[in-house]
Amino acid sequence: MKASFLIGATVTCLAGGVQATEIEVTHWWTSGGEAAAVAEFAKAFDASGNKWVDGAIAGSGGVARPVMISRITGRDPMGATQFNHGQQAQELVEAGLMRSLEEVAQADGWRDVVHPASILKSCEIDGQIYCVPVNIHSQLWLWLSNAAFEKAGLPVPKDWNELVAAAPKLREAGIQPLVIGQQPWQAGLVLQNLIAAVAGPEIYGKVLSEKNLEAVDGPEMAKVFEALQTARELSTGSNVQEWNQATAMIINGTAGGQIMGDWAQGEFAIAEQVAGKDYTCLPALGMGEIVSTGGDAFYFPKVDDPAITKAQEDLARVMISPEAQVAFNLKKGSMPVRGDVNLDAANDCMRKGLDVLANGAIVEAQDQALSADASTQFNDLMIQFFNQPDMTTEDAKAGLKDILEFDS
Ligand code: GAL
Repeated sequence: MKASFLIGATVTCLAGGVQATEIEVTHWWTSGGEAAAVAEFAKAFDASGNKWVDGAIAGSGGVARPVMISRITGRDPMGATQFNHGQQAQELVEAGLMRSLEEVAQADGWRDVVHPASILKSCEIDGQIYCVPVNIHSQLWLWLSNAAFEKAGLPVPKDWNELVAAAPKLREAGIQPLVIGQQPWQAGLVLQNLIAAVAGPEIYGKVLSEKNLEAVDGPEMAKVFEALQTARELSTGSNVQEWNQATAMIINGTAGGQIMGDWAQGEFAIAEQVAGKDYTCLPALGMGEIVSTGGDAFYFPKVDDPAITKAQEDLARVMISPEAQVAFNLKKGSMPVRGDVNLDAANDCMRKGLDVLANGAIVEAQDQALSADASTQFNDLMIQFFNQPDMTTEDAKAGLKDILEFDS
C-alpha cells in the first residue's frame, strides 16, 4: 500500500520576514526530566528557522503508541513521531506510510557517525533508513536510594543479591525494598534485567534474540525465575502507577531500589540529586558489565507538502547534530548515538554507561529483539505475574515460551 497525504501545515511569518514551517512532533516524554530533555530539541529546531509544535502524549509508550499509530493509519499524521529503537514502526513502514530518510542519511554520513552500528540498523528496512536515532538508553540498571539504606542502618548494596539480603531490614524501617509501578512495561523490564544480570549476556541473547526454548529450560534461567519470585516479594506493597512516581520514592528515600532504564537519571537531575552521594546506579543490577541498546528514534510520516518535507529533514538533521545530541542526552540520562561529541559534563552514571558501552557486553533491547506484538505480550505476562501472587514461576516460564515461539 502506498500513501501520501497532506499535513495541516501552518506557515507563519517571523519578525525578520523569514518563513517558519510548523510541524507537530509527538512523543511520550512528560516526566520532569523527559520534558526538560525534549525542550532542548524544540529549542534547537526553532533555532533552525522552523517551529516545533509539541505533541506530548501522557502515560508512557504503552498509551502513546496506539494513539500515534492510529493517527498515521487514520490519515491524520503528525510531522514526526517518537518510537523505540526496534520493530515498533515496522508495519507502518511496510504499509508505505513513512518516508525514507536514506538520502539525508547518505548525504550526512550517518552510517559513519552512529555508534554502535546496531542503532542505525534498527532504523533500516530493506536497505533504507526510516528513522533518526536520538539516544541509547540502556534499560539494564538498578537505582538505589542512599538515604533509605542509611535510615535502615545498612550499607548501600553493591548488587542485586545485597539488595535482596537487605530487604527484611528495609521493611522493618518502613521502607519499600523494591518499587515497581503498574505500567506493564515496568514489569517486563524486571524480567529483562534479571535475565541479563542473573543468567548473563549470552543466555539473554539466546532467549530474547534467538528465541531458544532450550535455554529457557536451562539451569541459568531457573535461577532467573527464582529471582523473579524474589522480585515479586520485594515489590509487594508498591503502590504507584507511573515509572517516575517510583523514581520519586527513590529520590525521597521511601523505597530502596528501582529497576529502570537510565532515563531515571533525568528525574534525579531535576531533583538536584548527585550520583554517588544521594543515589547509586548499578549497571546490570551490579552483576556484570552489560548495556542494552534501547532508546528512541524519530520517524516521519509521508506528506506531499514540500515545506513540511523540508522541515522534516531539518528536524532529523538537528536531532543528530553534535550540539543537540549533547544538550538532549545530558538532560535525558541517555547516551548519544555518536561517539564524536564532547561529554565532559556527563555525570558518574552516564560515565559508567559509556564505559560499559565501550568495554562491556552489548545486548539488544527488548523492542529490538521482539516484535511489537510479542513485546506487548511479554509485558502483559509480567504485570500479571507481579499482580497475581498465586501465579507460579512455572506459569511464567510456560507463558514466556509461548511468546518466544509465537515470535520465531
Ligand atoms: C521509553 C523511552 C525512554 C523513556 C521511557 C519512559 O520507552 O525509550 O525515552 O522516556 O520510555 O517514558
